[in-house]
Amino acid sequence: MSQVEDCVNIINQSAKNFKPQVGLILGSGLGQFCDNIETQASIDFDQLPGFPIAGVGGHAGRLLFGQVGKTNVVVMQGRAHYYEQGKADVMAVAIQTLKAIGCSSLVLTNAAGSLLKEASPGSVMLIRDHINMTGVSPLFGAESNKRFVDMSNAYNPSLSNSMRSAAKSNGITLHEGVYAWFSGPQFETPAEIKAVKTLGADAVGMSTVPEVILARHQELPLCALSVITNYAAGMSETALSHEQTIAFASKAADTVEHLLVSYLNSQS
Ligand code: HPA
Repeated sequence: MSQVEDCVNIINQSAKNFKPQVGLILGSGLGQFCDNIETQASIDFDQLPGFPIAGVGGHAGRLLFGQVGKTNVVVMQGRAHYYEQGKADVMAVAIQTLKAIGCSSLVLTNAAGSLLKEASPGSVMLIRDHINMTGVSPLFGAESNKRFVDMSNAYNPSLSNSMRSAAKSNGITLHEGVYAWFSGPQFETPAEIKAVKTLGADAVGMSTVPEVILARHQELPLCALSVITNYAAGMSETALSHEQTIAFASKAADTVEHLLVSYLNSQS
């Protein structure tokens, strides 16, 4: 049996008769969102073969099943990153499992550095498109012509509109822009930031893009949010650190929480 089939069986035993609608991946420091879930079941990633070992501070490594309003959600509290083991497909089993258990869309969240003066730390940006600066793909080694995934409209226009509406109805300023994926784990140099600014990036980070590619490969529609935790390298005097990422993600957590609850309510 494949790892995905194993995961589906384990999930079906723990979360009996649960019919998920939306899958949600929570980025660094956003774990408090889980307080909004009427939790029915919870499974640690280490019980699910092929799921990542969430190793970065601010990530719990747990799959939660429950309701937000009337919407059934499965939340990945934590993710794995390419920089942890140099494996771009580290989230493949997780994304395939979310599809296999019946999620019909995904919401991805991350912490990111801003290249936009107006998007200051603590603010939120809807990702409109991305630039893959790593040169790697989670689909290396995938077989069949299905691997030639169309990445136009990867960030689903209709789901993105629902996120805009949720922001508007809650008086939340939602910036929008292009996310550039760098491998990390080191932060970017000021010259790299200047370069991607020229290429059209508005935010930078070390996650999400592989998951977007994997989800599109599974034909799962998605939308994505960046929580701005800092100005990108060279844009401010503050030294970049993971501690700062966690602190500012937590600061923005209330805003993200409102936005996600309202968005998820619109998806039932
Ligand atoms: N660069 C890359 N990843 C990040 C940043 C950044 O400035 N902030 C939070 N995650």
